[in-house]
Order: sequence, then C-alpha cells, then structure tokens
Amino acid sequence: MMIVAKSLSEFDSARRALEGATVGFVPTMGALHQGHASLIVKAVRECDAVVISDFVNPTQFNNKNDFNTYPRTLDDDCALVEPLGVKILFAPRVVDIYPEGSGLDSKVFDLGGLDMYGEGPRRPGHFNGMAQVVTRLFDIVRPDRAYFGEKDYQQLAIIEYFTKNLGYPIEIVRCPIARAENGLALSSRNKLLSKEAFEAAPHIYNTISKVHGMKGVISVSDAIEKIVSMIDSNPLFKTEYVEIVDAATLRPVTMWDEAPALRLSCAVYAGPVRLIDNIAV
Ligand code: PAF
Repeated sequence: MMIVAKSLSEFDSARRALEGATVGFVPTMGALHQGHASLIVKAVRECDAVVISDFVNPTQFNNKNDFNTYPRTLDDDCALVEPLGVKILFAPRVVDIYPEGSGLDSKVFDLGGLDMYGEGPRRPGHFNGMAQVVTRLFDIVRPDRAYFGEKDYQQLAIIEYFTKNLGYPIEIVRCPIARAENGLALSSRNKLLSKEAFEAAPHIYNTISKVHGMKGVISVSDAIEKIVSMIDSNPLFKTEYVEIVDAATLRPVTMWDEAPALRLSCAVYAGPVRLIDNIAV
C-alpha cells in the first residue's frame, strides 16, 4: 500500500518506517506521465523503498501564468504510481516546504555559474527556486539516491553541482529522456498543447536531430541558424533559443571540437506553451 502524505508530520511518520532501507527519491511537480514512470521504475529496481514528491513549487516559476496553469492531477498521479511500487507519495502544502518566517523561500544558492546560459537568463530566479525546493526535499526525505531526467539537462547539472558542493550524501542518478514513439519528449506541459500543436510537436525533436548531419560540416553558428529556421518554418512553433554547449560547463561553444562532449538544447513556443528539449551532439 502506498502512503499519501499530505503534510510534513504525515510524511515524517511514514518515513520512520523506512529507517535502515536504501531510499530512492523521485522529486516531481505532479502531472505525472510515462517519463516520470520510467524514473520510478528504475528507482524501484535499484532501491529498497521509493519516495516520490508531488509539489508544484511556487518559487521556481518566473511566470505567474505558467504557475497558475501548471496541470495539477494528484488523483491520477496516485493511480499511476501506486502500481509501480512507490512506498510514499509526499504531496506537501506550501507551508510544509516554506514555513512562514523560515527564510527558506529567499535562500540564495551557489549554482557554480551553470545557470549563466540556456534557461538561466531566460527564466530569472528559476534555478535558485528549484535549488530551494530540492535541498528542502533532500533534508526532509533523506534519500540515498535521487533520480532526475535528462529532459531538464541544465537542472540536472545544477543539482549535481549543489549536491556535491553542499556535501549531501546522495547519489544523483541521471536518467535518459523518455520520448513518445514519434520522438516528442514527454513533458507535463504537453497536456497544455492544442491537439494540432501536440500532433505537430515531434517536429522539434526531428529538427534538432538533424544537428548530427551538420556537425563538422558547417559551422556551429550556421547549424544553429539553420535549425532555428527549420523549426520556425512550421507556423505553429517559434524558437526562443537553440544553443550548442559544452555538456559539462554548459557554456555555448563556437567550434565543434571545443569540448569533449556537446549538448544541443532548445526552448520553443507552441502558442503559449513553452517546450524544451535537448540531445547529445
Ligand atoms: O523537474 C521538476 O519537475 C522540478 O524542477 C523539481 C526537480 C521536481 C523541483 O521542483
């Protein structure tokens, strides 16, 4: 039986029963889909007990409308994850995570400069807010391992950085992006797409995948320009950015051989919905 803990005290009493077990943790903002399920299945396989959190963290939304429209589907989430073998689903209230007067929602984190490019400047405060909630959840859940998807590649790199920097004894487990058969990266925000945009959205992955044929053939900047214009050739989409970065430092590169591993990442608007994706180059 999965325990659904809706407050800190409910969580603490459920967590006590797991003392001595190797605990795997999958933090989420709910609106769970098969991408989350793939992280949970891996965690269940590798740990004695798995905890997931389901919390739409207000401090990581730089856009109020995005926060207000973020899908909230707790009952469906419970139905999806219980059969996977999750022991505790922690769905706290804001006051459990950020008690009034605690200052936890204004704490500033060293992100190692990994927030200087990509999503960082486009979503001011987002990664710091993400660090607030993830460290708070680490303190409450006390996992041995925590599982994150490469869909949010920059988030994952930042989490690895502060976990180490702050001395958390937690292994961060990287999990590959879960994609639909047509290539679309699974995302909670896909639920917000119009039918037309949803059907057309694999266009983003299909286009960024073309970078493989461009690598070493044309310049990095020409490749970016080409990919942007190919994405935008479909009137349903508008690229915010395409970057090709050093996969370790996340700094944009100008040459293909500038770093041992590269990553292409992008953000694309489909109407009001902002989608992100990335691939190894
Ligand atoms: O990736 C997410 O869903 C969120 O950023 C996370 C890690 C659960 C923190 O709110």
